[in-house]
Amino acid sequence: MTDSKAENHPAKKKETILSGMQPTGSLHIGNLEGALKNWVKLQDEYWMFCCIVDWHALTAEYRDTKAMKETVFDVAVNFLAAGLDPDKCAIFIQSEVKEHAELHLLFSMLITVPTLTRLPTYQEKKDTLDSYGFLGYPVLQAADICLYNAHKVPVGKDQEKHIWLANDLAKRFNNIYRKVFNEPEALFTEVPTILGADNRKMSKSLDNHIALDFTEKQTEKRIKTFYTDPTKLRKGDPGHPEQCPIFLLHQVYTPKANDEIAPPCKTGELGCVDCKMRLAENLNEALRLLRDKRQKLIKNPDDVWDVLKVGADRARSRAQSMMEKVYRAMKTNYRG
Ligand code: TRP
Repeated sequence: MTDSKAENHPAKKKETILSGMQPTGSLHIGNLEGALKNWVKLQDEYWMFCCIVDWHALTAEYRDTKAMKETVFDVAVNFLAAGLDPDKCAIFIQSEVKEHAELHLLFSMLITVPTLTRLPTYQEKKDTLDSYGFLGYPVLQAADICLYNAHKVPVGKDQEKHIWLANDLAKRFNNIYRKVFNEPEALFTEVPTILGADNRKMSKSLDNHIALDFTEKQTEKRIKTFYTDPTKLRKGDPGHPEQCPIFLLHQVYTPKANDEIAPPCKTGELGCVDCKMRLAENLNEALRLLRDKRQKLIKNPDDVWDVLKVGADRARSRAQSMMEKVYRAMKTNYRG
């Protein structure tokens, strides 16, 4: 987006949002409902920076980097297909704006190692992942956020401590030198719970997911494997929709699910096989537009790479002016 274009809505966009997503394999409907749809709404109200955080992905995937280009591309395709509009928000790759690394380094001076080792995200993985880079993951995340002077960061609850840490680093910097950064805050929004085929949180690594790039047939096949109420063995048995991941999905994708799915499930009139078929139809219908857009984008990869370049240029210009302020505040702008 050119800034002049954005300035056509001066009354609306006041604050800045930075959102980040790791390029790790294909996205699924949990990502779509939990994050992307929300971002699409936010792009009209905020200055928005959508960052594909490939350096963060490297903390785990540092050996196997062959697939990175493809996964970065795929995330960009999904962003665009879901409705993120490059005229309204900067969509870019983290490593194409080197200032992320610069601010990460400066922030790393302002935080102690025990603060980082205490974080649950570190504790959970430290037995398999104990690199210096992984320890600094949340510091890099803080740099992502502060580099654009973001006010708000749309994230899930699992990221709460990381945003708190970004807020703390911004405060610390402001206190030690002088006020440069806004103190960013998490923006939690109500999102529907999306469970996977095994009734656990939907995730690609558990292979219980419905990917955005599944065909309609693959979607139907995956839905057939879904866990359902174990006390409802055959049509006629009364069901408990409130405990069923298929019903959760109906609530998202089937209009009037509470009236048209729950009652006949409870009485036994609606069997699980039919119920799943109806969901597959509705879900495929809901994803059709996005999937069509995906196909078009995949056929024109240069257009997607162009969007990422323009996005990085825009992001970089904001990032560079922030870094100038940072060095001035630190009095390390030696030639300025
Ligand atoms: N840690 C985030 C996650 O796993 C990804 C991320 C990196 C991020 N940098 C960010 C999210 C900045 C929001 C803002 O989901």
